[in-house]
Amino acid sequence: MKNFNPDPQPLLEVVKLGKTFQIHHLERQIGVFENLSFTLTRGQFGLVRGPNGAGKSTLLRCLYRSYLVSHGSAWFHSALGKVDLTRAADEDISLLRRSEIGYVSQFLKPRPRVSALELVMEPLTLSGLPRDEASNRAEVALDTFGLKRELWRAYPSTFSGGESQKVNLARALILPRSLLLLDEPTASLDKQARASLAQRLGELKAQGVAMLGVFHHPEDVAGLPDLEVWIGSEGALEDDERRLADVVE
Ligand SMILES: Nc1ncnc2c1ncn2[C@@H]1O[C@H](COP(=O)(O)OP(=O)(O)O)[C@@H](O)[C@H]1O
Ligand SMILES: [Mg+2]
Repeated sequence: MKNFNPDPQPLLEVVKLGKTFQIHHLERQIGVFENLSFTLTRGQFGLVRGPNGAGKSTLLRCLYRSYLVSHGSAWFHSALGKVDLTRAADEDISLLRRSEIGYVSQFLKPRPRVSALELVMEPLTLSGLPRDEASNRAEVALDTFGLKRELWRAYPSTFSGGESQKVNLARALILPRSLLLLDEPTASLDKQARASLAQRLGELKAQGVAMLGVFHHPEDVAGLPDLEVWIGSEGALEDDERRLADVVE
């Protein structure tokens, strides 16, 4: 473990998780992963690794409950108590998504006639912050990720991939969370925005935020991972080999 962790209480305990997709029109099943177990404590960063198509995104979606798992559990130690993310009621999952668990994908979902600034303000206003304060904080967040000021009041539907992703990250990281699920958030970013993101993730980690992330270029987050979660064929590596596997590809 690279980082001293003052709070060894588990935040997320994934126990023998398995996911199989039923492909109805082919009348067959695709097994994505099975018997996946790992634990994250507060402030820990887990790097999810494995070949293309191994099931990395699927794992994050199962934990965010966009997908249902086929077996296993994912115990999340919420401020409101311990809950199995794989079985919790939909309303509890909605509450956790608003308060404790964040998910960042590669893509922003722009909405017609909603400006970049409004999209970033939204999580703050929904949590009850007055609009002027939310606007100030959203501007700081957009600035942090390097979105040009003249785009703040523009509609992201016309933005480039990198510009959209800066809005996506500002929105996703603006509220404090205890667990962040990150699915290739750096894929379309320029070097400077990647560095800003890594710095922001480091700050969040120091504040005790746990993260589970897939990174196409793990060197973007060099120094952050405390553990690696392997999915797919390389998961067969021995523990020692895994520990020795270079985080920088
Ligand atoms: N909604 C879905 N329905 C059926 N198969 C899916 C679905 N989502 C992903 N898959 C399949 O699951 C496997 C893992 O996909 P994914 O999690 O996206 O891999 P990775 O992120 O590791 O590249 C792939 O074979 C993919 O085709
Ligand atoms: Mg993926």
